[in-house]
Amino acid sequence: MTNPGNGNPKENAGCRAAGYVRDGMIVGLGTGSTVAYTMDHLAQQIKEGLRITGVPTSLQTAMKAREHGIPLLSLDDVTRIDLTIDGADQIDPSLRLIKGRGAAQVRERCVADASERLIIVADSSKLCNQLSGPVPVEVIPFALGHVVRRLEKLGGTVVVREGVKKDGPVVSDNGNIILDYHTGPIENPETMESIINNIPGVVGCGIMAEFSGVMTVIVGEPNDCRILGRP
Ligand code: 5RP
Repeated sequence: MTNPGNGNPKENAGCRAAGYVRDGMIVGLGTGSTVAYTMDHLAQQIKEGLRITGVPTSLQTAMKAREHGIPLLSLDDVTRIDLTIDGADQIDPSLRLIKGRGAAQVRERCVADASERLIIVADSSKLCNQLSGPVPVEVIPFALGHVVRRLEKLGGTVVVREGVKKDGPVVSDNGNIILDYHTGPIENPETMESIINNIPGVVGCGIMAEFSGVMTVIVGEPNDCRILGRP
């Protein structure tokens, strides 16, 4: 598929990713503004005869997919996903990620884990030399104070994410609270990921270091895309 060439890096990345989707695929649909462009392009391809089934990673993505006529199944209804297309907030040179600006990192990790292939779509502002947080952390409400204290003991500061046009904390699609853990530069993302995910009460953090070996990153530029990782 060609790029629309309209000078929008996110749209170029999202559109290029849609070109990886083949007839009959089960496609994991990530969350965010870049994947939304992928869905726009998939909707067009569906009108032209493409048959796919999407597995959404958030309520927002499910709503958009339904508007676009993309048939959906839940993760429980499929035994494998051929390809997942998702966004990211930070991408380091080893293709380790921070995700979760949209508070969807737990479902995004489940869907990525069930996928044969993961494509990350982003503009070049997401590329960094070193991951540096903040790291989104989803926490069960019961353990909120406990997890905040445990994270603060590791160093850094913790902010409970507040809603926009809603008083009080953001509540995730899973009914949990989202913390933004300000870590500063992260020397060892794998270790940090495992330490955070092992705190009782944490459902999942936004560091995703384990997918770098199977990942393609499509970096949108104003008039083209760069491909990092798996071709
Ligand atoms: C949501 C995410 C998004 O994929 C990430 O924030 C990228 O979003 P955008 O494409 O809007 O920049 O992790 O939880």
